[in-house]
Amino acid sequence: MNQKKILLGVTGGIAVYKSAELVRQLVKAGHEVQVVMTRSATEFVGPVTFQALTGRDVFVDMWDKQRGDSMAHISLTRWADAFVVAPATANFLAKLANGIADDLLSTLAAARECPLLVAPAMNKQMWGNPANQRNIVQLKADGVAILGPASGFQACGEVGEGRMLEAEEIALHVDAALQPKPLAGKKVLITAGPTFERIDAVRGITNPSSGKMGYAVARAAWEAGAEVTLVSGQVSLTPPPGCRRIDVVSAQDMLNAVNAEVDAADIFIGVAAVADYYVLNQSEQKIKKDAHILTLELAPNPDILANVTARDNPPFCVGFAAESENLLEYAEAKRRRKKLPLLAANLVQTAIGADDNEIILLDDEGEHRLPRADKLELARKLVAHAARLYARQNKV
Ligand code: PMT
Repeated sequence: MNQKKILLGVTGGIAVYKSAELVRQLVKAGHEVQVVMTRSATEFVGPVTFQALTGRDVFVDMWDKQRGDSMAHISLTRWADAFVVAPATANFLAKLANGIADDLLSTLAAARECPLLVAPAMNKQMWGNPANQRNIVQLKADGVAILGPASGFQACGEVGEGRMLEAEEIALHVDAALQPKPLAGKKVLITAGPTFERIDAVRGITNPSSGKMGYAVARAAWEAGAEVTLVSGQVSLTPPPGCRRIDVVSAQDMLNAVNAEVDAADIFIGVAAVADYYVLNQSEQKIKKDAHILTLELAPNPDILANVTARDNPPFCVGFAAESENLLEYAEAKRRRKKLPLLAANLVQTAIGADDNEIILLDDEGEHRLPRADKLELARKLVAHAARLYARQNKV
């Protein structure tokens, strides 16, 4: 596990109950978490809750004489790899935007060196208040990441913008803040999941691709700073925050979506398990099962990746190869045939549907083995490798 040190600031709002879940998510991801609460936050939840979840004493008071560290406002930020404040009240945001440091948490924020993320939580009128909106503009200009807020039911009974994001989404942003940004400012187009070729009104031909590898690549590209568009077959996964998803069904739909987006892309990564054939003699209505033998006529689908590499000015292209035997031989032949600077080869028996995978990256320099690991970890390595080759090719 890639353990990092996270400083979590908790200010006084009803959304504090979600911060406990956030701590759980961060600890589960392998991070060490140190909580600092404001006095008002302790009115909602006692420090002992966070102490129990993190295994570390919670800091509240700047002038706590029990502690040996009289420089906590400096040492804690130097300790941290990332600093997240959730929930962040309107009062805390106002202090942050104006450099006010009048308690431990606001002083820590002023003295920080690591990335700072804030998850606002407040009533919709407070969120829309012009003074608060001015503060948000200022904080963005100062490089503070503003997470959300979401819209929906509020504790006060009103409905609108100002709800704190859910813990899971905040944890994704914290993880992203910890990753290097070699693709900042780049646009990445990714295909993922299976395609589905219709036979009749209810039946079709598809494959067991779960989309997990493609969605992991999308998350890794987003974490690396890219603007990500994900063209996705039918899967039951949530796209990473910040990724634009275009849903498709058949290979032809996927090709159309890719063609509409590819001109804007700097990098194209084809992870989808595209059906190689579609049904020529499709039926509008459900076919009755009275025929003993049903004959389907199959015609080849267009090759989406080959279409992209054949363009006049193609983006940097990365392909996948899913093989059931002779992995290296078949994958390298595919890489050369499709004119790919980079291809990720995997064995279909162990890759498809699984949470982890084992990949061999093939490029002009040869093979680079990525041993069995969680698909996200592999996706981060693949994206880092692609970013290096892209930078070399484009001399950036
Ligand atoms: O979704 P998961 O359950 O996580 O499984 C992941 C995976 C096994 C599907 C993934 O890791 C993978 O290997 N994806 C590529 C699957 C595939 O179609 O491989 P292929 O060897 O048939 O195709 C080679 C390349 O051409 C692929 O980049 C593919 O997206 C692309 N292709 C193929 C056919 C076609 N008509 N159009 C294409 O663009």
